Amino acid sequence: MAELRFSSVSVRYGPQTVVRDVSIAVASGGVLGLVGESGSGKSSLARAAVGLASLAQGRISVDGAALATGRGRSRAVQMIFQDPFASLDPRMSIGATIAEALPASGRRPRSGRAAEVARLLDLVGLDPARAGSRPGQLSGGQRQRVAIARALAARPAFIIADEITSALDVSVQGAILNLIKNLRTELGLGLLFISHNISVVRYVSDTIAVMWEGALVETGPAERVLASPQHAYTRELLATARDSALTMEGS
Ligand SMILES: Nc1ncnc2c1ncn2[C@@H]1O[C@H](COP(=O)(O)OP(=O)(O)OP(=O)(O)O)[C@@H](O)[C@H]1O
Ligand SMILES: [Mg+2]
Repeated sequence: MAELRFSSVSVRYGPQTVVRDVSIAVASGGVLGLVGESGSGKSSLARAAVGLASLAQGRISVDGAALATGRGRSRAVQMIFQDPFASLDPRMSIGATIAEALPASGRRPRSGRAAEVARLLDLVGLDPARAGSRPGQLSGGQRQRVAIARALAARPAFIIADEITSALDVSVQGAILNLIKNLRTELGLGLLFISHNISVVRYVSDTIAVMWEGALVETGPAERVLASPQHAYTRELLATARDSALTMEGS
């Protein structure tokens, strides 16, 4: 079984250390939910895995082999971001965007690539006939589906989903969460699912890791962390989530 492992990872921006000595692992077929307040370092940790932030210390590996970053970076780990509008090229058709992410295969005929794009669109719940659409012609939820298809096009073993529902209308958040849950099961992907919202994290995760001020304060099976949080900060997160659920019921 494949494993994405962060070992004693630290990330620094100039003199400021924003991720401090974090060790976590994601197994294929598993969902590790990473939760923590804004600025706690979640995205910085994630970005280090895809070469968008450099490691000040530690190691990130897939099945024991350190991930190559920069130009020759591994396709094994793909990231999906919060804002699909910013992460998609507005001038390119969504089909071309997805095709661009397919592994370069010596002489794969054009028709084979088109069929693969259609398969991926279908997999994320979009009509393959829309391959010619531009991002601007789609809804926010549809754009996030395109971003997911593009990530899948690279045939990753792991996906890092960083606040992927935070920019979406509440009405479509659930559908995107269900899509990502189903893909995990269908494709046996390992998922690092990041959100500042513990209610969202608890819905998708089998393991939960809690970050606070750059450090990991608690990790464990989701049921255990939710039922008997060991760290005061985790208890605080859960109390806040309960309060906002009550407010929603009351409104
Ligand atoms: N490129 C950067 N240069 C300098 N500082 C940065 C940079 N990116 C993030 N930071 C700082 O690093 C810290 C951690 O930020 P990060 O984005 O990793 O947190 P986060 O947990 O993802 O927060 P959020 O929930 O708001 O997405 C913050 O103090 C932030 O201001
Ligand atoms: Mg973030």
